[in-house]
Amino acid sequence: MGRILAVSNRLPVTVSKRKDNNDSLELNELRSKNYDYKMSSGGLVSALSALGGLQWLGWSGINVPDEYKAEVTDHLNKYFHCTPIFLSDDVADMYYNGFSNSILWPLFHYHPGEMNFDEDWWGAYTLANRVFAKTLAEEFKPGDLVWVHDYHLMLLPAMIREEIALIKPDAVVNIAYFLHIPFPTSEIYRVLPVRREILLGVLQSDLIGFHTYDYVRHFLSSVSALLQLETTPVGVKFDRFVSCGVFPLGTDPERFIDGLKKPEVVQRIDHLKKRFEGVKVFIGVDRLDYIKGIPNKLSGFDMFLEKNPEWIGKCVLIQLAVPSRQDVEEYQNLRTVVNELVGRVNGKYGSAEFTPVHFMHRSVDFNELIALYAVSDVCVVSSTRDGMNLVSYEYIACQQERHGQLILSEFTGASQSLNGSIIVNPWDMEELSNAFLQSLTLSEEKKLQNHNLLFKYVMKFTTKYWGKNIVDEMERIAEERKKQKEH
Ligand code: ADP
Ligand code: G6P
Repeated sequence: MGRILAVSNRLPVTVSKRKDNNDSLELNELRSKNYDYKMSSGGLVSALSALGGLQWLGWSGINVPDEYKAEVTDHLNKYFHCTPIFLSDDVADMYYNGFSNSILWPLFHYHPGEMNFDEDWWGAYTLANRVFAKTLAEEFKPGDLVWVHDYHLMLLPAMIREEIALIKPDAVVNIAYFLHIPFPTSEIYRVLPVRREILLGVLQSDLIGFHTYDYVRHFLSSVSALLQLETTPVGVKFDRFVSCGVFPLGTDPERFIDGLKKPEVVQRIDHLKKRFEGVKVFIGVDRLDYIKGIPNKLSGFDMFLEKNPEWIGKCVLIQLAVPSRQDVEEYQNLRTVVNELVGRVNGKYGSAEFTPVHFMHRSVDFNELIALYAVSDVCVVSSTRDGMNLVSYEYIACQQERHGQLILSEFTGASQSLNGSIIVNPWDMEELSNAFLQSLTLSEEKKLQNHNLLFKYVMKFTTKYWGKNIVDEMERIAEERKKQKEH
């Protein structure tokens, strides 16, 4: 097989217009003449960045005027092996904030109440997918494997075939598609007015991958109920057989383990250990998104302190919340809710010497993130739905010394694999508050046992393992197709 062309909405770097006009500043990978480049966050970016060796196509993230397009394209290609896709402000807004993040995202995470269908958004989603398809068709060379990612690009597999057929009619096109978020039960999915169009778009892939068996099952039952196609437990009989499989994503544990050895990180860990001496640290690391159940976490922490006052002053919750999708109203509302809750807990239990919740509404750099993971006694993941959740994997990778515990929502994809964590229903405040207590009071022996189970899993089922499995499966399918054609 030739190159792997990965296509996703977000690129590993986010482009922004330079504010300074200081031409004497040295240009480097994070700075071209008129633009700055900053690492993006999110599970998809973490996963694909760890794979390496990809040509990566994605939206530039901002509107780039024609005269600067060559600068941004050359820079992204040279330093990051990325090909940017440019969209006008209007289309980008309706495709990204609108259809992707105000319709598909809430619906697929079981928030149908937040979904307001809008024909214009759907039009923009279709158009944006078409622009992606055209750019990809130009980039495509026979032998390349096309690997499409996530809910922003569900029409893309079908469009790619159309666009490549127009300019390279004889090329064999092999397409894998991976959904990084949950596929909801068909009873939720069927609410979507364009439910058939979306399924037909994805079904032009040769292989469709999901994080868990449940997501595959939900997808297949939607396909059979809404398109009346015959399905088997491993795929769909369409104009050809479309394989559907479970490929649970992992992390790149070595990156975290090696990172912890860096002198500056060791120093930072020492500093944080002194700062929190005698205090147990709970950590939460999430994008500020309503699926992450941050209000549930704060309320659970509140109830834990109320029921166990002996812990007041002896534990803190450090909550990192990366700003996310700030142009979408639900995300703005969430910010207000979370700020109020943080204020409530701190007002109730705080004192001049002690702040129970340390809330940081910003992204932190990698060194700071791993130092915080390493000094924390417990990581709390309380998502109300989450495709996988890589934070839980990252935390375990950083816990070889402390053997910290993981409180993990049963509604994450990760909960199906991470045996050894304390599984909770984040809607059950009693259970969640008990989990806070339990995580602190487990015997050292039990902590070690849990950690060993989790650590072994995280070391084995890595991002590379995930990527290799998908690519191997695609190669097998491509080979099979080739043989069928020859006979
Ligand atoms: P999602 O993909 O929904 O954002 P994941 O837990 O799968 O959720 O992935 C989140 C990724 O973003 C992780 O790799 C994590 O390290 C990174 N991240 C989350 N919060 C921060 C933060 N405050 N600063 C830096 N990186 C963060
Ligand atoms: C989730 C999605 C990704 C997305 C990430 C961050 O992980 O599955 O596709 O990149 O969230 O969200 P953003 O909207 O900032 O790309």
